[in-house]
Amino acid sequence: LNNIAVLTSGGDAPGMNAAVRAVVRTGIYHQLNVFGVMYGYRGILKNEIFPMESKSVANIIQRGGTILKTARCKEFYEYEGRKKAYENLKKHNIDGLIVIGGDGSFNGAQKFSQEFDIPCIGLPGTIDKDIAGTDNTIGFDTAVNTAIDAIDKIRDTADAHDRLFVIEVMGRDAGYIALHSGIATGAEHIMMPERKTELHDIIEELQANERRKKLVNLIVVAEGDETGGANEVARRIKESCPQLDTRVCILGHIQRGGSPSCTDRILASRMGYAAVDALLEGIHNVMIGIVNDKIHYTPLDKAVKAKQEIDPEWFKIVKILAS
Ligand code: F6P
Repeated sequence: LNNIAVLTSGGDAPGMNAAVRAVVRTGIYHQLNVFGVMYGYRGILKNEIFPMESKSVANIIQRGGTILKTARCKEFYEYEGRKKAYENLKKHNIDGLIVIGGDGSFNGAQKFSQEFDIPCIGLPGTIDKDIAGTDNTIGFDTAVNTAIDAIDKIRDTADAHDRLFVIEVMGRDAGYIALHSGIATGAEHIMMPERKTELHDIIEELQANERRKKLVNLIVVAEGDETGGANEVARRIKESCPQLDTRVCILGHIQRGGSPSCTDRILASRMGYAAVDALLEGIHNVMIGIVNDKIHYTPLDKAVKAKQEIDPEWFKIVKILAS
């Protein structure tokens, strides 16, 4: 192993920079040449590949976004695109590629590593925490903390006006941001794709709450919930309970930005280090995860979207604590 390249791909996540830093510095420590690729796979195709030094990653551990930029690249889905990528990587004699991204990015890496002789390592970077083979993904903790911060603020104004708020959080098809931010802010209800919620049950509870003069209610809805998001939930509540003062807040992309939390910085640093270590050890085409606080390798083709069972106990906790 002599020359490795690192890229960030798919949606950005806080902590990606910390991971890039760890890869670059661990690589240099082992006397490897480390190359950065701009804009994910697109950058390989456009030959936006450049040598990085230790100081290229100075002062980034605390920054959100990604200094390597990111993109979603359609061409890489096709064999011809991947072939061109291989040729460009070979121009720089790259013999190891580290991809920081989500399951879509691993899918590309998996195909690429099967077709060509450049081993790939994936690092799970996504706020959604929807990847199998790791307890946590880079960015999730920060995104949840951003959501908590916002929801706490919403509770202040909801409380001042005796209002019901329906708050939509991100997560694509996964409800982890909703579950965690909802519990941590004492939300009265959490709606997420992993568990069907009957809206009429919620409406009945809201009406019961009203009878006992509990007018402040927060409903956290995952964007992927089958009901159709916060606007639809609010519309249906307004229809059945026009007397309730209902507002909607969609948190959106603020959940993707900001300085990474301590947890994400440490996760990213450990994973970045482990990625280089794996390549040096000859461990190829796996995603680095951390399970029970130990580094865990998952073959790239198994590092897919994880729609996990959510323990029903969580919902009991939500109900008891918010009553
Ligand atoms: O995967 C991260 C994520 O922020 C999801 O939670 C969300 O559904 C999606 O990306 C939004 O994508 P975009 O930034 O392309 O609108």
